[in-house]
Amino acid sequence: MQLTPDSFKRWDETPDERFYAQPRLVTHIDDPAIAAVTQLYREYFPQTGVILDLMSSWISHLPADVTYKYVFGLGMNEQELSANPALNDWIVQNLNTTPDLPFQDNSFDGAGICVSIDYLTDPVTILRDLGRVLKPDAPLVITFSNRCFSSKVIAAWLQLDMPGRQNLVATFLEQAGNWHSIEQLDRSPNPGQTDPLVAVVARAR
Ligand SMILES: C[S@@+](CC[C@H](N)C(=O)[O-])C[C@H]1O[C@@H](n2cnc3c(N)ncnc32)[C@H](O)[C@@H]1O
Repeated sequence: MQLTPDSFKRWDETPDERFYAQPRLVTHIDDPAIAAVTQLYREYFPQTGVILDLMSSWISHLPADVTYKYVFGLGMNEQELSANPALNDWIVQNLNTTPDLPFQDNSFDGAGICVSIDYLTDPVTILRDLGRVLKPDAPLVITFSNRCFSSKVIAAWLQLDMPGRQNLVATFLEQAGNWHSIEQLDRSPNPGQTDPLVAVVARAR
């Protein structure tokens, strides 16, 4: 797909702070899809690692039986983040206005972005900075399904099917330039019956 500036526009261009002011203490995908995310985190994240949950909310989908060294969350709503039992610490930050991540180079052993990558208006810049804060070869697990807040999603997302969205995310990672071993996975638990769940996984250079 040919990407133009219009590809990154959204129906609702009001500040994200307004849209996310109200806490949403709900799940955005069904339980089988959440279990598929958890399984990916189990496979890719080192059990003793420092993990970043980017675009986080009140639930991180990390395996409950694993005690990571430290889990940091970044999202838009203070009430959601403070209710998240997996997080050791968190910050409210609008990545669409402040794309620089507030972390030192090589801080994390793994990062997840669950059902959220489609809300970023400059995903390449943010993924490039995410590559900076991950240690070399640390995994990034980006997951998504077929649901979204359509008014806040970039236009390109709404024009694509699921494989097209995976290709788009892989293209963002390639354009960021500091990722390798980019994989596209389909972990849909019960195709056609419950929420689909796909992933794009990559490792920091
Ligand atoms: C559909 S929710 C998913 C939340 C969580 N990752 C999950 O799996 O349940 C989308 C999340 O993206 C985050 N988000 C949306 N726009 C954002 C922005 N501009 N900057 C930072 N985070 C954002 C919100 O905080 C929200 O929690």
